[in-house]
Amino acid sequence: MKHLYEKAPGASKTTLLLLHGTGGNEYDLLPLAKCIDPEAAVLSVRGNVLEHGMPRFFRRLAEGVFDEADLLFRTQELNQFLDQAAETYAFDRNQVIAIGYSNGANIAASLLFHHPRALHGALLHHPMVPRRGIELPDLTGTPVFIAAGTNDPICADVETKELQALLEHANADVSLYWLNDGHRLTTEEVEAAARWYRTAL
Ligand code: MLT
Repeated sequence: MKHLYEKAPGASKTTLLLLHGTGGNEYDLLPLAKCIDPEAAVLSVRGNVLEHGMPRFFRRLAEGVFDEADLLFRTQELNQFLDQAAETYAFDRNQVIAIGYSNGANIAASLLFHHPRALHGALLHHPMVPRRGIELPDLTGTPVFIAAGTNDPICADVETKELQALLEHANADVSLYWLNDGHRLTTEEVEAAARWYRTAL
């Protein structure tokens, strides 16, 4: 997968996995990584799917309606890419923490739903429920931060609460931060994410 990798400046074993929103690229979330954990290594990936020229991490049939077969295929593809990248760049595969926004948050949530050891933790900015009707793996000890807007036209608050409940049912440690806002990524939530990260990880 197209990506960029920045080594940790010091001895930190953490790698932040950055996953952009629809139409974004691997450069978009670099400022978030610096704000959340400037000591961590950074692996920022570009989604392999194009929707009218806009990169995404998996196909959708309509807004909010995911192509489930492609979601599963792309989730596995990303997980395998992480395995390979850990060997190529010699980072600790067990210390990968995802930071995703929108479509990137959805594939990060899908990694949690389908691959029990894919992520050490996750920061999900405006995620949706990636898939319904499945048993999640045991996520005991996995810290998850969710930022959501109370007026998000793409993800209603009930869907955010559903995602929280699904993750909590799988024993993840979920922290939900509400913004009086819509789907956009705000400075306020990045600062809240950084505060959460300092205590939860
Ligand atoms: C998605 O398709 O993943 C969600 O609708 C978010 C988006 O990318 O707009």
